[in-house]
Amino acid sequence: MEFNRVVGTRRSIRFFKSWRPVERSKIQVMFEAANRASRSMNADYFRAIVVNRDDLDAETRDALRNPTTTADLDLAPTYIFWYIDLDYVAGAQDRLKELVDQHALPAAHGWSKAYVDDFLWPQVLEPISKDLNAVIFMGAVETGIAICNAINAAVDQGLGTCMHAFTANDTVKPLLGVPDTWLPVWLQLVGYPAEEPEAGGQRPRRPLSTLFFEGSCDHPWDEDPEVTEQLTREGMIQEPGPFPYRAQEVRMLSRMYGLPE
Ligand SMILES: Cc1cc2nc3c(=O)[nH]c(=O)nc-3n(C[C@H](O)[C@H](O)[C@H](O)COP(=O)(O)O)c2cc1C
Repeated sequence: MEFNRVVGTRRSIRFFKSWRPVERSKIQVMFEAANRASRSMNADYFRAIVVNRDDLDAETRDALRNPTTTADLDLAPTYIFWYIDLDYVAGAQDRLKELVDQHALPAAHGWSKAYVDDFLWPQVLEPISKDLNAVIFMGAVETGIAICNAINAAVDQGLGTCMHAFTANDTVKPLLGVPDTWLPVWLQLVGYPAEEPEAGGQRPRRPLSTLFFEGSCDHPWDEDPEVTEQLTREGMIQEPGPFPYRAQEVRMLSRMYGLPE
């Protein structure tokens, strides 16, 4: 799929073909996409563990239920548990110097190994590593960027996916052998959509002018209708929900799975 169409087709999928496993190769593509995501310091902020739903006993699956994560856990065949490794700053000094060696961080911009060792590390990075709020803030941003790549890679491969609140870490942690330095972030459910991939149409979003500005906050972004039209042609902007048959689609899927209608 073209990039614009992947972005436009992505929806949070909540009805999965519970019987159809996800190929391991497709998970690898998602992981590779996540690993290619940009990240400050070239550090490894995130960790993720993929688990087959059916390898978790009923008690563990029940522990993961929370007010916003319920039947999805029964329908999605694949779970990806995402974490921040709070130790990510360790090794950042060496990784930055690696980028200097690669000329990715060029001298023209003030970079050198000495700059990393004598200024950046002692003045910036080491202090950050001792400030838990800063560590979590940066870790959450970078993990989110990686997850976004994984989501789009899933959609590109015909998979459905939805992010969910990750609770019950106390149950999951010993089971999956999670180290103490890993902070749970989100649980990603993955599978083949049982609903149409369009899932009833594109979700309501506010116009660009409410979120983006040009020059200053006094000047909301003024959309170029030609670009809007191009993005509609290319599938980034799609028909808004709900499709006329969406309520019926949800009703029939709920009936099939024995869920409340
Ligand atoms: C980081 C993140 C966490 C989310 N957590 C939940 C959740 O706990 N339960 C849920 O049902 N949906 C969750 N969602 C899905 C959103 O509710 C969903 O994105 C929203 O309804 C917009 O729809 P769309 O993703 O189809 O565009 C989450 C989405 C993101 C990106």
